[in-house]
Amino acid sequence: MDRAAASERAAVLRDEIQHHNYLYYVQDAPAVSDAEYDALMRELVALEASFPEIVSADSPTQRVGAAPLSAFVPHLHQVPMLSLGNAFSEEDLRAFDARVRRLLKDDLSAPIDYVAELKIDGLAVSLTYERGVLVTASTRGDGVTGEDVTANIRTIRTIPLRIPEDRPLIEVRGEVFLDHREFRRINTEREAAGQPTFANPRNAAAGSIRQLDSRITATRSLDFFAYALGESSGFTPDSQAALLETLAHWRFQTNPHWKRLGDIDSVIETIREWSVRRESLSYDIDGMVVKVNTLDRQQQLGAVSRSPRWAIAYKFAPTQGQTRILEIVAQVGRTGAITPVAIMEPVEVAGVRVSHATLHNQDEIDRKGVRVGDAVIIQRAGDVIPEVVRVLTELRTGQETPYRMPAACPVCGTPAVKPGDEAVLRCPNDLCPARVKERLRHFCSRGAMDIEGIGPALVEQLIEQDLVRDPGDLYSLIPDQIAALERMGDKSAVNVVSAIKSSKNRPLSRLLFGLGIRHVGEHVALLLARHFRTLEGIVHATEDEIGAVPGVGMVIARSVATFFEMSETRDLLEKLDRAEVSTPTETAPVPLGEFGGKVFVFTGSLQKFSREQAQTSVQELGGTASSSVSKNTSYVVAGEKAGSKLAKAAQLGVTVLSEDQFLAMLANVGNPLS
Ligand code: IVH
Repeated sequence: MDRAAASERAAVLRDEIQHHNYLYYVQDAPAVSDAEYDALMRELVALEASFPEIVSADSPTQRVGAAPLSAFVPHLHQVPMLSLGNAFSEEDLRAFDARVRRLLKDDLSAPIDYVAELKIDGLAVSLTYERGVLVTASTRGDGVTGEDVTANIRTIRTIPLRIPEDRPLIEVRGEVFLDHREFRRINTEREAAGQPTFANPRNAAAGSIRQLDSRITATRSLDFFAYALGESSGFTPDSQAALLETLAHWRFQTNPHWKRLGDIDSVIETIREWSVRRESLSYDIDGMVVKVNTLDRQQQLGAVSRSPRWAIAYKFAPTQGQTRILEIVAQVGRTGAITPVAIMEPVEVAGVRVSHATLHNQDEIDRKGVRVGDAVIIQRAGDVIPEVVRVLTELRTGQETPYRMPAACPVCGTPAVKPGDEAVLRCPNDLCPARVKERLRHFCSRGAMDIEGIGPALVEQLIEQDLVRDPGDLYSLIPDQIAALERMGDKSAVNVVSAIKSSKNRPLSRLLFGLGIRHVGEHVALLLARHFRTLEGIVHATEDEIGAVPGVGMVIARSVATFFEMSETRDLLEKLDRAEVSTPTETAPVPLGEFGGKVFVFTGSLQKFSREQAQTSVQELGGTASSSVSKNTSYVVAGEKAGSKLAKAAQLGVTVLSEDQFLAMLANVGNPLS
């Protein structure tokens, strides 16, 4: 192939790959298999390798990260990136509306058309497209000059490298963010590597964008929502709604939850709704942005200092609060990790009373300079444990005392160890009462053996009274023993014993997860269970055999093999065996009847069963449960008030089942949900 032919073919491949990227990442509806996609990508990589001069800035091969920079270069925004005025109450919103009406004095009585959008808690970036090709991407900086972070931005799959708009210069603006799942994945990985973890998804996103080595950024699935234009070579949609539609047409991801609203009352209503609903999103929002919809009115209103007068940011109740550290205690977890926990004067943060916060480890305590008695800012974000963000050193009295982690386990006194370059301190004693309690609690938890009625207080007593030493002992408990404990009656004792009994047939994956083997979370447990099918299979597998399971690495393999070699584990397994805890043979994910190989999505509020129950059943029968609807979805099971997923199912022609229909399907294969 000559250069001209290569260049032509490369252009075709780039278009095709860009299209599939969009379907996969933005639409969540892939049209080709991973293998087909990989083949296109391989062909393009090979062509560009043979003819390096044909590599273009908009080539999808440019998303993998480039050589590290020594510093970021400043970037001057063609149009300044404004910030917004804030509203913290409904009153503030009404005042904003009143001001808008006053300034538009010529038509005081006309209703104002607003657009309300989610305020994504990430960091603002500006993308510069020259004749449709992404050439620069930069952070907001001071609004006038930001930092050129193009190499990092290119790694974000939901940002098009080319747009179907030929004007000389278009600046598209929006928010880079990380969803909760990816945030947790990054932190777990960092923790395992002994690196400091990120405090929240926004910090993790900012850290990833301000990363000099874009190859590291490329390993993190950053995401992007577009919501504004900067310089646009005379291109001006006549409203915010039209702008959002144009951005979507250019194949940007726009947040689907924006709404046009006819007056401030509807705006307030929508904000109230989202102040609760935000907990159900898979990413953080810190408020809502209210924008006057039409461009002519936006222009009439103009801007003052650095904020437009036609928009305002409503901030939800802060997720940060100020309090004082009364004490620091070292807590021992299931895996022996000894974690310093700050006990604080209770404070309400975003509607929740908080009195404990994690300090992670000694390195973190030192880095933040935390002392007992310090006034601190704490933060809670979504479902993560509250943590200390920073110390208010200016409020020190001189009475504060530094804290050192103990040299020995605070519970059993065994000298603590600090393996390799890990930041965490561990109690190495497997029989440490604190660890035993946590293990027992984990074994009974919802995602594991799901034994109802065994909460922290009962676990505490079972261990203290020496009724239980490991989870295996649960199965020989009799009601009288439990009834004799504090705050337990005859009836609840009988219930607990029957709950224990009914856990005997949980799927193998749950038992494996419940055993609390280090590095074996729910996902790995499922992989192992599906591969080995039986508990004996895993117990007898070698480290290499375990490591060979797709998705299971050698670190996990070593941990699993070591676990099953321990004499304590053998005792435990013997007890489980005697109690006839007989996990059914795990179903391999091969097509099997109506469920095998099928992809189920559950949506809406389910009345007849829990989402977890349903997902487990589907998995047990060889299907998978997914959270998003795509072309590959086999069934959407819709509960009450099902929303966008139902609409998407209809659009893609996916079969929708009611809860009853789903239950009937299960009953058909002899797997009624209890
Ligand atoms: S509009 C002139 N829309 O919030 C328009 N901003 O407090 C300026 N943000 O700097 C921005 N979601 O980082 C807009 N849907 C949204 C937003 C949003 C998040 C951020 C953005 C901005 C800050 C303003």
